[in-house]
Amino acid sequence: MKDTTTFERDKTTWQHSALVARAAAKIARFLPELNAETAFQCGLFHDVGKLYLPREDFYKHPFLGYTLMRDANEPLLAEVCLLHSFPLSLASGAYFSHYCRGDAAEVARVKAAMETLNLSPAMQDYVALIQLCDKISGVTEYVTLEGKAAWYKARHKLDEESLRKNIDALQNIKKRLERRIQKNIYALLGLPKD
Ligand SMILES: [Fe+2]
Repeated sequence: MKDTTTFERDKTTWQHSALVARAAAKIARFLPELNAETAFQCGLFHDVGKLYLPREDFYKHPFLGYTLMRDANEPLLAEVCLLHSFPLSLASGAYFSHYCRGDAAEVARVKAAMETLNLSPAMQDYVALIQLCDKISGVTEYVTLEGKAAWYKARHKLDEESLRKNIDALQNIKKRLERRIQKNIYALLGLPKD
């Protein structure tokens, strides 16, 4: 049986995931190429790997979520799990290393899995949507990308350059999506417009 600490941790993951799911569905409703329900599912499951890991191993959750969803025959959810933390894609060795706490075996696993992916344009859209929605969702409320960057800086001690590149990549995703939906995403989620 799980202890109370684990339950509280899982609760936080589900609360965050529910916010991500709601944001993704809200945005997807304005994208005719996407299905809002599918976007909701992607948000709900993106952090599923965390439910099976102790907090100190959370950095392994993208790959674990990927294997869980792949084994459940859910290829889109698997790709979302694997890629949601890596908007900088394969080019970013330093970021990977930071994210994986210097665990070279985990970096190698993630990279090898990424090299097998062959994402359709729609799948790329769902992945980008969840990459953004993940970072603008806290546990109980939505936050701006700059707000999340400040939180990361304080909590995870990522180096400034990796963090800046990561936030810039997400700002670009946000701008691209906003052009397509003709709406400000912060306003759509009840945040002040940037
Ligand atoms: Fe995550």
